Amino acid sequence: MSKVALVTGGTRGIGASICLAMKNAGYTVAANFAGNEEAAARFTEETGIKTFKWSVADYDACVAGIAQVEADLGPIDILVNNAGITRDAPFHKMTRDQWKEVIDTNLSGVFNMTHPLWSGMRERKFGRIINISSINGQKGQFAQANYSAAKAGDLGFTKALAQEGARAGITVNAVCPGYIATEMVMAVPEKVRESIIGQIPVGRLGEPEEIARCVVFLASDDAGFVTGSTITANGGQYFI
Ligand code: CAA
Repeated sequence: MSKVALVTGGTRGIGASICLAMKNAGYTVAANFAGNEEAAARFTEETGIKTFKWSVADYDACVAGIAQVEADLGPIDILVNNAGITRDAPFHKMTRDQWKEVIDTNLSGVFNMTHPLWSGMRERKFGRIINISSINGQKGQFAQANYSAAKAGDLGFTKALAQEGARAGITVNAVCPGYIATEMVMAVPEKVRESIIGQIPVGRLGEPEEIARCVVFLASDDAGFVTGSTITANGGQYFI
């Protein structure tokens, strides 16, 4: 039987590419989404991948959503914590809501999704947790005190939990995408985006599929000795 992978924020952007690449690699895939029903319906129509709606910012909703996916497809072997939002503002203009929304989704969302799955993975002695962090969690970004803090937190979470999962056959890794051609990056003002592209040595934005291929590797049996690590895929924009 094929392994089951759940991808949060899986119907658009990098998440959609991850779902597709995982499906093509032979996994049974479930895509979670929080809001955009139209995009989710279109995604299922185009790919045949089932979608499940809940917010990763809500712990109880995660517990219920995971139970629904597992009843439908079987125990989840691979969790890709991809769901993420931006609420960019220079710090002097950042509101408490902008801070909270980003922390709740991008950082607490990773806890909310991983925690309910952890004991099942421990019992089955297998699991793959793959957290999609960001270049901006590594280097910081103007107008992203909230996002950079959350994404840096995801890296700390990855390294701590990798140590706990190791003896139970669970690997925990992160991918740090640079600027990828998705709606999120296209929402950045054009002038700012052009200046960012100027800082990327390969001279272009990344493609979502270039991140998806990193995830497929980390999910595979070939990556069993890789844990607590970060794959940095940013076109050379930042080295760590
Ligand atoms: N470094 C230094 N100064 C900067 C700057 C930077 N990177 N970006 C903007 N500024 C300066 C501007 O020059 C301007 O200065 P002046 O007032 O002296 O002209 C000031 O900051 C901007 O002030 P505004 O009042 O115009 O700012 P605003 O409230 O309109 O906010 C913004 C604009 C939100 C900062 C907008 O420029 C923006 O969205 N920037 C992009 C931020 C970014 O890169 N986000 C990443 C999104 S993609 C993502 O997050 C995915 C991923 O993981 C990579």
